[in-house]
Amino acid sequence: LASAPPLALAEKYFQLRPDELNPLWGNPCDDARHRRIWSKSKWCDTLPKILVIGPQKTGSTALYTFLAMHPVLVPNQPSPITYEELQFFNNNNYMKGLDWYLNFFPPNQSNASQITFEKSATYFDGDLVPRRAHALLPNAKIIAILISPSKRAYSWYQHIRSHGDPVANNNTFHAIISANDSAPKQLRDLRNRCLNPGKYSHYLERWLSEYNSHQFHIIDGSLLRSEPAIIMNTLQKFLKIPHIDYHKLLKYDAKKGFFCQAVNEKTKCLGKSKGRVYPPMEDRSAKFLKRYYTPHNTALSKLLVRLGRPVPQWLKDELSNG
Ligand code: A3P
Repeated sequence: LASAPPLALAEKYFQLRPDELNPLWGNPCDDARHRRIWSKSKWCDTLPKILVIGPQKTGSTALYTFLAMHPVLVPNQPSPITYEELQFFNNNNYMKGLDWYLNFFPPNQSNASQITFEKSATYFDGDLVPRRAHALLPNAKIIAILISPSKRAYSWYQHIRSHGDPVANNNTFHAIISANDSAPKQLRDLRNRCLNPGKYSHYLERWLSEYNSHQFHIIDGSLLRSEPAIIMNTLQKFLKIPHIDYHKLLKYDAKKGFFCQAVNEKTKCLGKSKGRVYPPMEDRSAKFLKRYYTPHNTALSKLLVRLGRPVPQWLKDELSNG
């Protein structure tokens, strides 16, 4: 019996199995054999059981904050770079391995009756995310938030402008969304990043090809903004966690124009970057986007009906002729 040195052997193996070049992390706790050889100094029971997947600019930080107020729910430790978002499944962090992810869920942070959760708003439209998330967290409950995709695109534009994106700062919103395929690459790339996440049905289908629809909860982001306590009360039922009344925990702050945490007689609101003040969208952009998103919104409406989920008012409005 002959063998090659380990490196040569590995190279040969990956030549034969190129599909295995990219790792797909599983949960060592899910397999008795893996559990037996898993180091005593490591853990795996604290992996999140709930994922809030976004998309960006739909109120995901508000939802994260409201969830973290629940005594049974424990978020990940913050990342020094991306704050509350770990962005594990959708970018290079995945290549840092399972230990990297687990370190944000230390066992001393939660007790046995608590449930850990994570929110990264870029998960929603990340190509590899549903497959990777399912490989590690097959029983997780998945939460997505949907608002009008036109409003989402506009909010995203304001967001990257305030982060100093040069292309966004040198181009109007309309120039970006209406850039055609002969426009400079930078502009086309920005257009795609701005518009693509709003093709909700496309991404939801991809998630649903990995996760059972019963594991999936879709939040109307417009109601999350105007009636957060109702949304949170329904969400608790979906998550099967003890009921706390969010009507008592959240209070409308007229100055902020949003619901905030009620703290004694005062309110604790999200920072300036959430609930920005900017001019309304130009009429021509609103019309352009309504047309642009019609096929995607139609597909979303059909998908929601198929899943037996309510069709939000914003979606009915987008699909109306008005
Ligand atoms: P704008 O800043 O464009 O108004 P995300 O956290 O996913 O980035 O979403 C940000 C958006 O959340 C904000 O977009 C805001 O409209 C919305 N939002 C919903 N509820 C909110 C709340 N209670 N406080 C602040 N922003 C909230």
